[in-house]
Amino acid sequence: MITLFKNIKELIQVRTEPIAFVSGKAMNELPTIKNAFLIVENGLISDFGSMENCPKINVSEVIDATGRMILPSWCDSHTHIVYAGNRENEFVDRINGWSYEAIANNGGGILNSAKKLQETSEETLYQESKVRLEEVIQLGTGAIEIKSGYGLTVDAELKMLRVIKRLKETYSIAIKATFLGAHAVPLEYKENKETYLKLLTEEALPKIAEEHLAEYIDIFCETGYFSVADTEFILEAGKKYGLIPKIHVNQFTAIGGVQAGVKCQALSVDHLEIMRDEDIEALKNTKTMPVALPSCSYFLSIPYTPARKMIEAGLPLALATDYNPGSTPSGNMNFVVSTACIKMKMTPEEAINAATLNGAYAMGVEEELGSITKGKQANLILTKQINSYGFMPYSFGTNQIEKVYLKGKEIGV
Ligand code: NIG
Ligand code: FE
Repeated sequence: MITLFKNIKELIQVRTEPIAFVSGKAMNELPTIKNAFLIVENGLISDFGSMENCPKINVSEVIDATGRMILPSWCDSHTHIVYAGNRENEFVDRINGWSYEAIANNGGGILNSAKKLQETSEETLYQESKVRLEEVIQLGTGAIEIKSGYGLTVDAELKMLRVIKRLKETYSIAIKATFLGAHAVPLEYKENKETYLKLLTEEALPKIAEEHLAEYIDIFCETGYFSVADTEFILEAGKKYGLIPKIHVNQFTAIGGVQAGVKCQALSVDHLEIMRDEDIEALKNTKTMPVALPSCSYFLSIPYTPARKMIEAGLPLALATDYNPGSTPSGNMNFVVSTACIKMKMTPEEAINAATLNGAYAMGVEEELGSITKGKQANLILTKQINSYGFMPYSFGTNQIEKVYLKGKEIGV
């Protein structure tokens, strides 16, 4: 099967030489080819270039992209799309003046979602979650990381991870699974957090490894949740089972979790709404990708990750949705890219790099996805008729996507 996309107004995020991620000033460079062609062979990008060099070959399908642009699909490296029910009632509580923290301290928050999930069957959980996955695919996401963390018992965490595994086996989007058992301390372990951590490391981890249920291990390192010592303990335990660390860190307070992430060689440190100079310093010259989640800041009315300061310090930055029922009930990467431009003062070039190439790195798929590069998967966004790629973040809230492709195949509604 060979597909030729011809007359592409602009082919965006073209990386002839493979590159793992971009940082600092290079984030503002987004290589493109105007009036381009792209050839997809058996799901992979096999050739691209200027229309004048378009080879005359026999193809199975020709798609005329006149007036439209093509870019690699969004890589959403941080989501919690497997959950039960929703938290609409807490949304209204917050409108009425309750804080996210106060709601959590009153038995709401993550524990509320965990209770619902424990009472939900694996089948129902799968059915509810697949709706969200299909929704984000239509919104241009072509690679997604999904976390557990609303189970908070060994059985319920395994149930979540098995749902992720089933999604992986059913859909052609790239999916990575993360074990986030240490998302909150269950009420019954409130005075006995160590016992819960032991349960995660001694009971859950061996089962997860045996069934190959996760690639990554995560923890919510935050005042009132898990300490820096807990973080190092969990991440190191995960590593023994081959899981690569990622962390939720510096969302509300900066307590040294970024340094712990770097020390444990975390692939990414995510949230980073509160960043001290020493946290930025700690990330310099490391392989750990900082990940910002602007729609979480938007929804909770908390600070945005200081992108300008970080990029000017020479750091890379990735963007992800954090799609979850409590802090970000939205998986729209287009909104994330717009919000990064509008609220974090990232340029369209920086935001697109952060949502494609750097996002791919933050979920370990940078060799397969995240750029227009020969041999990479043809997970693509075909835009509507627009004059420049900057129009996508500019026209926030309007869907500028005409079609999406996974492994070269159009995914229709
Ligand atoms: O990434 N901060 C921790 N975890 C999730 C939200 C959890 C929830 O409220 O359900 C997040 O924002
Ligand atoms: Fe999260």
